[in-house]
Amino acid sequence: MPDDNQKSHGFASGLTQYGDRDFSLYLRRSFASSMGYSREMLDRPIVGIAHSASGFNNCHRHFPELIEAVKRGVLAAGALPVEFPTISLGEVFLNPTSLKFRNLMSIDVEEMIRAQPMDSVVLLGGCDKTVPAQLMGAASADIPAVQLVAGPMSTSKHRGERLGACTDCRRFWAQYRAGSVSNDEITAVEQRLASTAGTCAVMGTASTMASLAEALGMMPSGSAAIPAVDSDRLRMAEETGRLAVSLIGSERKPSRIMTHKAFENALRVLLALGGSTNAIIHLTAIAGRLGHTIDLRHMNELSETTPVLVDLKPTGVGYMEDLHAAGGIPAVLRELKHLLHLDCETITGETIGERIEKAHPWVDREIIRPFADPVRETGGLVALFGNLAPHGAIMKRAAADPALFETEGRAIVFSSLADLASRIDSPDLDVTPNDCLILQNAGPTSESAMPEAGYIPIPSKLAKAGIKDMVRISDARMSGTAYGTVILHVAPDAASGGNLALVKNGDRIKISVANRSIDVLVSEDELSKRRLELIIPVKSKSRGYQYLYDTHIMQADDGCDFDFLVPNKN
Ligand code: FES
Repeated sequence: MPDDNQKSHGFASGLTQYGDRDFSLYLRRSFASSMGYSREMLDRPIVGIAHSASGFNNCHRHFPELIEAVKRGVLAAGALPVEFPTISLGEVFLNPTSLKFRNLMSIDVEEMIRAQPMDSVVLLGGCDKTVPAQLMGAASADIPAVQLVAGPMSTSKHRGERLGACTDCRRFWAQYRAGSVSNDEITAVEQRLASTAGTCAVMGTASTMASLAEALGMMPSGSAAIPAVDSDRLRMAEETGRLAVSLIGSERKPSRIMTHKAFENALRVLLALGGSTNAIIHLTAIAGRLGHTIDLRHMNELSETTPVLVDLKPTGVGYMEDLHAAGGIPAVLRELKHLLHLDCETITGETIGERIEKAHPWVDREIIRPFADPVRETGGLVALFGNLAPHGAIMKRAAADPALFETEGRAIVFSSLADLASRIDSPDLDVTPNDCLILQNAGPTSESAMPEAGYIPIPSKLAKAGIKDMVRISDARMSGTAYGTVILHVAPDAASGGNLALVKNGDRIKISVANRSIDVLVSEDELSKRRLELIIPVKSKSRGYQYLYDTHIMQADDGCDFDFLVPNKN
């Protein structure tokens, strides 16, 4: 018979309901014993390890080794580590796009860490949507949790040139489309772009979210940028295991760490990194789970006083491994110190201010520039508003051509992804470099669920003439590794009847980064007339997850979360 069935930690917590508590504990211990645990282990508190390894996720292929290191730390600190899988979202393996399944993964993480017996949890993710999903789930479950990330890929070389996914993927592909790279060379490059475990090697979405998880205080100091294959990452995994044990019974829960002020710190870091546009959606979604909001107009204010300090691709020259060697996120925080809320508590119990004081002062100024001599004077992202985007649109100005910041041009409209694919390279396409390419029906409520299609390719005939950039506007997203004068996340989106759906070929479009504005130069009367004529495509009747998605997805400015997962939204 169980002799300590009043214990409420480890396997004795959250018992399966049979109507007889002693029987439940007896049965659980019996079945857990079948896994070879000693009685001493069965009585320990449990650290769950929620991991997202999968054969469909190249970025997480080293997770077995990382999990072993976490377990070592947990065992050494006196608890029992128990790993369990959750959904994994391998960025390039999901149709139509990984964002569609981020909320599904967040539900999986939330429910499994709540339903299974664990006293704290290590969240092991990395590839783009996995870290946001884990933080969203942990925020909603609100048990002590610590994030551990895959770490970035290391770079490789191709014929003497340093390569890393995925800014170089896009650079070579653009050259291939323009005819300056051969079939043989693009095939050779394909083998070299992603040659180690880990997440994309530049400041893409995965690297941005890892950095923001550290800035939010949900990871140990200095852990975001350690390369995936470096032994430091294994030591960080071991330390994370120990940390998770120290969290058991503590009040250091996600809701206490991820406060409104912590999100403001994270926004400052995002702007200083020149980080991914996707991060705005994810930060909004994580904050939303805890009842906080990310106001895009406030982000614009922060962007005016936060310079870009980090010189990494896609906006600069370096790679994530360079950021780690340069001092990592602690060195970035030090430069921003006077702008940050230094009293924000982190998962280790230190404040952000204490972390900055503790970090080694050495910094490589080639990669992390001083506040007084930044890469750019203002932040990497800016939100635009106007009759084309009443709820906002996002532009990564750090990755855009300043010569296009104040533009008025003719709209060349593509009504869907299929329309774009069928006409963009047509020699008959009536387009000039001064036009604005508009993509409709690629937002969160569209059939394609907001894919990273906002990086509209330069029409082939212009690319071959040497044009590398032009204004592109859509309700879609863009990979964090991409660059160009690309305006994204237009809200409300076209498929829900937003004004983007009313734009017609030949309309004049005006954008002004100085005024934070984006407008179609058509009278309100004409827009009202077009709105009456607009036919919003009726979606086919859905079931399962698609039904949940269709009936509950929110717009980009609400983080594309489901309304029923957010307090006060449903
Ligand atoms: Fe996983 Fe880029 S494909 S982070």
